[in-house]
Amino acid sequence: MKIWIIWTGYVWLIQAIWLAKLGFDVVSLDIDEKKIEDLKNWIAVIYEPWLKELLAEVKENIKFTTNYKDLNDCEIIFVAVWTPQDKRWRTNKDFIHKASISIKQNLENNDKVIVIKSTVPVGTNKEVSEILGEWFEVVSNPEFLREWKAINDFFEPDRVVVWFWKNVKWKTKEKIRKLYNYFIEKNIPYIETTWETAELIKYAANSFLATKISFINELSQLADKVGADIQELANGIWLDKRIWKSFLNAWLGYGWSCFPKDVKSLIHQFSENGLKGNIIEAVDNTNQNQLNYFLNKIENFYDDLDWKNLLVLWLAFKPDTDDLRESRAIALIQKLQEKGAEVVWYDPLEKARENVRTFYPEINVIDDLQNVDFSKINWIIIATEYESFNDLDWENIFSKISMPVIFDGRNILDKNKIKKIGFIYKKI
Ligand code: UDX
Repeated sequence: MKIWIIWTGYVWLIQAIWLAKLGFDVVSLDIDEKKIEDLKNWIAVIYEPWLKELLAEVKENIKFTTNYKDLNDCEIIFVAVWTPQDKRWRTNKDFIHKASISIKQNLENNDKVIVIKSTVPVGTNKEVSEILGEWFEVVSNPEFLREWKAINDFFEPDRVVVWFWKNVKWKTKEKIRKLYNYFIEKNIPYIETTWETAELIKYAANSFLATKISFINELSQLADKVGADIQELANGIWLDKRIWKSFLNAWLGYGWSCFPKDVKSLIHQFSENGLKGNIIEAVDNTNQNQLNYFLNKIENFYDDLDWKNLLVLWLAFKPDTDDLRESRAIALIQKLQEKGAEVVWYDPLEKARENVRTFYPEINVIDDLQNVDFSKINWIIIATEYESFNDLDWENIFSKISMPVIFDGRNILDKNKIKKIGFIYKKI
């Protein structure tokens, strides 16, 4: 079975590699010629642990192109284009509409299944189906993978959700089942449902996780006020088996485009339908507010805070990724700079540092912590949750630093060890 995948973003690349590994012939299309050129030379255009190695393994089964004309060769076409939000928080569906029109214009034989992988609001699959015409079968099948854990998430998902239009042909259902047989045989829940239910599942799942984060973040502010410890408090909650422990870390708030964009899109979908998403609106507000809370914490520490010479560690929206979109670290630096702070930044991932230099030339990034003159550093701020941060030579840093103060926006350091060395340690 020959399969096409449109767009070479995160979801594409994992999907393409997985299908190629299972022996399917995969062709990937992107309208970005530079990206396709790089991929033809087997340069992994984005960073994800193990991606380079896996790409090298499946070379035989993956091809790249910018030409929609080649679509005629395949039975199934995955559409995994980007669906960002616009200024009014609505999902921008331009890319998905354009891809649908291009498919329609370039296909001679209509016996094709179009699988929408992108996260799309209610009604989009119907729109795509209307653009494509009655001979195309549209199936919605979004992805739940996380960056940094994407490969693992893809091979061992909690569930596979396949969303059909009510009157989908039996033949189409069989084709998709064949494609996902690997998961079905492993007894991974395989859910078939209708478009309307389906389109909401991805938004509901992401928004629920974001709700857990905002809930614990809001509590962290009260805990701080009354002298309680939010990490111990979170443990006390999740030891109740009905409350699962993940996403109960009170940090700087959630980043990247998925949670912020899907939460905002869900708020908009409520209002478009004449309803108010009270909980989800509060989730979004709390996330904005958490960054200000952390900033106030820094600001209120000393009355006459000298904003100069701050070292902020880590830049990406979470560890082991080069993705800077909606990174809390970047949002933090922008607020610090507004206050006149001179900030030095560091991220252990070279690709993340490269991206900062390209997209945020105003940020002063260093390549090696060894090059930092700690005698000129007043504060250290931790913005991304790298566990490996605990392995730095803190005693050595303490012996050199101008003011031994650490603000840990990810509660990641071993506070007893850090305090024992002599640092003033402030966490969420
Ligand atoms: C998320 C969903 O997890 C995934 O299922 C979906 O398909 C895409 O969006 P991702 O954005 O890659 O994945 O990362 P995730 O690990 O979920 O973290 C999102 C953000 O939440 C990060 O900024 C992280 O730092 C933050 N976070 C996570 C918290 O602030 N607290 C937590 O307890 C967990």
